[in-house]
Amino acid sequence: MKLLFVIRLFVFSLFQLSLVCYSGNIFSLPIKKNVLKVEQTKCEYLINPLGIDVMAPRLGWKISASQQVFNQKQKAYQILVATSTDKLTESAADLWNSRKILSDQHAQVVYNGKALVSGQKCYWIVRIWNSDDQVTAWSEVAFWSMGLLNKSDWKAKWIGDQPDLAQKVYADYLNTFDPAKNIPVVNSRPVGPPSPMLRKTFNVKPAVKEAVLYVSALGYYEIGLNGKKIGDHQLAPEWTDYDKRLQYQTYDLTKTLKEGDNVLSSVLGDGWYLGMIGPTKWLSEYPRRGVYGNDRRLIAQLMITYENGEQALICTDDSWRINSQGFIISADNFLGQQIDAQYIPQGWKDIGFDDQHWGNVFVDFGVSKNMEAQKNEPVRINNYFSPIDIKQLGDKYIVDFGQNLTGWTRMKVKGKKGDTIMIRHGEMLDDDGSLYTKNLAAAIQEDRYVLSGNNDEFEPTFTYHGFRFVEISGLNSMPTAEMIKACALSSDPEVTGTFACSNPKLNQLWSNIIWTQRNNMTSVPTDCPQRDERMGWMGDAQVFCQNSMFNMDMAAFYSKWIKDIRDAQSARGTFPDIAPHANKPDIRFSNAPAWADAGVIIPWRMYENYGDKELLRQHYTSMKRYIENIRTQNPKFLWLNDVGNQYGDWLNANTIIADGYSNTRGEIPREVFATAFYANSVKLFSKIAAVLENEKDAREYRQLFDSIYTKFNDAYVDDSARIKGNTQSAYALALHFDLLPEAKQDLAFQHLIECLKEYDNRISTGFVTTLMMMKELTKRGRNDLAYGLLESERFPSWIYSINQGATTIWERWDGYVKGRGFQDPSMNSFCHYSIGSVGEWMYRVLLGINPSDQEPGFKKIIIHPQPGGTITWAKGSYNSISGIISIDWEKTGSMFSMDVEIPVNATATVILPSANPAAIRMNSKKLSTLLSASIDKRTGETSIELGSGKYNFVVDEIAFF
Ligand code: BGC
Repeated sequence: MKLLFVIRLFVFSLFQLSLVCYSGNIFSLPIKKNVLKVEQTKCEYLINPLGIDVMAPRLGWKISASQQVFNQKQKAYQILVATSTDKLTESAADLWNSRKILSDQHAQVVYNGKALVSGQKCYWIVRIWNSDDQVTAWSEVAFWSMGLLNKSDWKAKWIGDQPDLAQKVYADYLNTFDPAKNIPVVNSRPVGPPSPMLRKTFNVKPAVKEAVLYVSALGYYEIGLNGKKIGDHQLAPEWTDYDKRLQYQTYDLTKTLKEGDNVLSSVLGDGWYLGMIGPTKWLSEYPRRGVYGNDRRLIAQLMITYENGEQALICTDDSWRINSQGFIISADNFLGQQIDAQYIPQGWKDIGFDDQHWGNVFVDFGVSKNMEAQKNEPVRINNYFSPIDIKQLGDKYIVDFGQNLTGWTRMKVKGKKGDTIMIRHGEMLDDDGSLYTKNLAAAIQEDRYVLSGNNDEFEPTFTYHGFRFVEISGLNSMPTAEMIKACALSSDPEVTGTFACSNPKLNQLWSNIIWTQRNNMTSVPTDCPQRDERMGWMGDAQVFCQNSMFNMDMAAFYSKWIKDIRDAQSARGTFPDIAPHANKPDIRFSNAPAWADAGVIIPWRMYENYGDKELLRQHYTSMKRYIENIRTQNPKFLWLNDVGNQYGDWLNANTIIADGYSNTRGEIPREVFATAFYANSVKLFSKIAAVLENEKDAREYRQLFDSIYTKFNDAYVDDSARIKGNTQSAYALALHFDLLPEAKQDLAFQHLIECLKEYDNRISTGFVTTLMMMKELTKRGRNDLAYGLLESERFPSWIYSINQGATTIWERWDGYVKGRGFQDPSMNSFCHYSIGSVGEWMYRVLLGINPSDQEPGFKKIIIHPQPGGTITWAKGSYNSISGIISIDWEKTGSMFSMDVEIPVNATATVILPSANPAAIRMNSKKLSTLLSASIDKRTGETSIELGSGKYNFVVDEIAFF
């Protein structure tokens, strides 16, 4: 940035003045009362959450304007919280009346009212005042409820089958393993114990005021009331380190309970608790399943409050009935589910079903879990897909759903009693049109259904598959499209990003990124949804984190997962490579550079994007312990010891097999890679200390960073700025983490350009540094090369996969190469988000939306579209925690026009592609007459500071492209 030469045309105060003085200017529109509206209220990042366990929940809202107004800010707010909606008035609010608080804070406002107790329902409203002291109407009523806050609140008992049943089957199961191939022997897959069915009939008196159900399980549970599934959660209670904490879910049954007899029914599955999970695949001494335990258990507590104040409790206890010969014969995340419809007792979930012949449940007094309320949006079915093609292949049928997804199929079928239908799932077809399943390894993804002879409907909800295609066998005739549909499943945060541009292949890329994100959000951010891994790999997650936050509101999801990371921190302070981590983080899968560093990087992103200081506070000691361990093990400032598995810049060019593509120059030396990440984590930690006003730590870790920086340069950078290994990734990494003295940056950048040339301007970076290279190319004046890489159709490139029909992001650039075929099946996922991190560049550069370090949580926005390549228009938006930011630009010849929306209570720096403010019009007025502007002569751009509102810009003469 040494060439940066900024001329101030006007002082900022002139900008203020122009708001008042400029005759007929856009800012002088009269502001009517109630133009502003408070909406999208959230509590702990969730919409009306039930059963939370944060004692002082944080509230947030967004402000919209119903007509064109500018520079609107929140000057003050007032919140009312009450025990009922009719008490939501200033005089009656019985939990909290914040009164008018002078503050522009609209997120993470901490509840500061009466102490809250277990089960308490809290209704709330909020209003704000704008800069002119005009007050808005109250927001719509929102609510949250408290969960069971004390261990003693749980009166229910853990119930299930006899314990020895599962032990026996586990032993049998091990015998089915083919040790040579490390996969189960398919045809003798364990046939039990089947999922137990449980039920309890109970009586409800008239006049229920409120009924709340708290549920959790060891394994998966589904629970129903009077024949209907309760809630839309899937795979509950989701994945945590069950030895540390177990999530429970809360459901409101007030409107669904009936007067008289009611019945709760439940069925249990293996889930992550009992079933196969990724980490065990490499460990011969580890169990193939049952890592956390071998017994499926249910706990449920229904609390009924009557209008007259009387209370009743319906709990899991020894009065529940159980049928162990369930219709779910087996179910496992990796293997699939077997359902025998002959064993579905008619009406077993309904009132009036005779369960006298069922057995007594086993009450397990040995279970003791740390129960915690669910923090993240539940896993739900988010989409349905009908077949786009069905083909016959011998006696089997191949169905194409047109989208690679995570989930399962729902199938309606009528056939001969006792006949078996098998559905196998895969992401790709082999060249002969058959289902390709080699890349699934031990996760065979097979569902089997035994028909009842009547109209059957099958939906296997205790497993999940990564697939676009299914192969159906056992049918006597071609299935119709109406018989089967695919149900797509994921943790379900709100989608916050939209994107479209003039290159349709980039639009497909954007869609592929979104789908890859969805498919890998099954309670934790997994690497892939299909093969026998499906783990929360931290390196992939940190690389994709910013992109994921543009795409969706990830605040609640990562709040939960960052706790999973803390749970997996080892005694000496290492962060894990995977979270949850079920395999002794003290001795394995820990502290790998760039993977473990996610434990610092992702909390920092939470701060940048959502302004979440509380999370930084909670995680502070963990981050410090992490860094201190590396410092202790590496007193000479280079990260050489305690580097775990050292994955390095994973899947760089050296792993690519293709004619004419060198596989010797991709790999960055691992010590360079490790030390760069150490430096970055220390720098971030120093910044975090400063944010939390811990000046001493901020100083100390800044000094530590300086020492690492010096040693990094001494050890790995020569006088001509060549970095050891001389690879694209080394330069991208060092420049991106700011590890080079200013005098060497341009030279190092030139070396990066040479390394690119060596690959004929193609990528040789691994997934950790690819996005860094894209950003550095743009930042340092070679946006043309960045666009070249993005739009390239040659191998390896993003569009190469799209040209072969990809609907999600591939793990490897060369997952499939025409003529050569598939890559190594032991590691070849077609749904991995890591190299999809380029979506972040698309938001930041192509569209132009950027957060600002100065004011986190998008209180300050940098709007900076940098068109290039073949792109002639782009539009998109981001519903940030501060509200909707939208951009719509077009380039016609040398003219550039753009519509921009900046949300209320935020400000933006808008950077436009011309160094001549006189050639820029804003809302039809010449910029030079309206505003202060700064010109950057190096880039040929003009920047202006703006408040909220909708703006149109026209640039007559584009300067830099
Ligand atoms: C995963 C990666 C992960 C890696 C560690 C792989 O098997 O799929 O995405 O980060 O292991 O190098």
